[in-house]
Amino acid sequence: MKHFISASQLSVEEIQELLQTAEQHRQHDVHIAKKVFAANLFFEPSTRTLMSFIIAQRKLGIEVLDFNPQSSSVQKGESLYDTAKTFESLGADLLIIRHSSDHWVDEFNSSISVPIINAGAGTLDHPTQCMIDLDTIYQEFGSFKGLNVVIVGDIRHSRVAHSDAVALQKLGANVYLSAAPGFEDPTLDLPYISIDEAVEMCDVVMLLRIQHERHNEYTDPMLNYHQCYGLTTERERRMKKDAIIMHPGPVNRNVEIASSLVECERSRIFKQMANGVHVRSAIMVTLLKEWGIIDENSIV
Ligand code: CP
Repeated sequence: MKHFISASQLSVEEIQELLQTAEQHRQHDVHIAKKVFAANLFFEPSTRTLMSFIIAQRKLGIEVLDFNPQSSSVQKGESLYDTAKTFESLGADLLIIRHSSDHWVDEFNSSISVPIINAGAGTLDHPTQCMIDLDTIYQEFGSFKGLNVVIVGDIRHSRVAHSDAVALQKLGANVYLSAAPGFEDPTLDLPYISIDEAVEMCDVVMLLRIQHERHNEYTDPMLNYHQCYGLTTERERRMKKDAIIMHPGPVNRNVEIASSLVECERSRIFKQMANGVHVRSAIMVTLLKEWGIIDENSIV
C-alpha cells in the first residue's frame, strides 16, 4: 500500500488485515514509542473524520501539526500540492488530506515521499469511512458474502456511496442502490430498488444525506422527500428482524431518516463514529509500518 487513497485499490486481503488490526486497536491501546509528526490538511469542513483522526493520533502518541486553511498561506494562493510539499519538507511523516476536488489524489501519487491518507476526495472516494462501514458490518454479521446491503440517498454526489459500493461488491455482498430522481449515478453499474423494497429485503440499510454543497445548481429541498425516499418509522417497522441502520453522518434528521430512528435499537450510526477512532488508528499504523517510518519495536 503506497498511499491510502482509494477503496478501489484495496485488495480483499488488505481489507481483511485492516479489519484485524482495527480489532486489535479496539481491544488494546497502541502507542508509538518514536516521534512521528502528522499533518491533517482539511480543506473542507469535517467533524467525525478530523476529530477521530486527532483522537487516534493522540492515543498513538503522534504529534499533530495544527493546520487551518483559513489562517494558512492557502489564503495567499498556495495550492494543495504546494501545501503538502511544504509539510513534507518541514518533516511531517504522514499527511491526512480532505479536499473538494474529485481528483486531487492524482497529482500526489509519485511526487510526495511521505504516506498520504485520503480523508475525502470530492464526490469520488472516502476510503477511511468505507473501512469504518466495513468494520461496523463485519462486527455485526461476521461476513460480507451474500449480505444484502442497500445504499439510499444522494448516490451521485456521495463519496461514501462510491467507496462502499466498490468495496462491498469485492467482498461478496449484494449491493443495491435507492435514490430519488436525479440522485442516481450512471457510473455505478448496480441495481436500483425503491426504499419500500429495500427495507423488506436488506440486512443493512445505509442512508446518506443530500449533499447540497456538491450540487452544481441550487436544488429546492424536495417536497415530501422523507415520505417518498427516506427511512420513516413505518418503513423501519417493515425491516428484517436483525437488519441494521447505518449512516456515515452528518445526519439531517427527518429528511433521510426519522429523528427517532437515529438512536433506535437497530441504528449503528454512533457505533460507526466510535469505530472511526480504531479504524483510522489501524490505517495510520499500517501505513507507517509499510513505509518503514515505524517498526514492531516502535510499538508498545
Ligand atoms: N462521515 C464524515 O466524513 O463526516 P465528517 O464530514 O463530519 O468528517
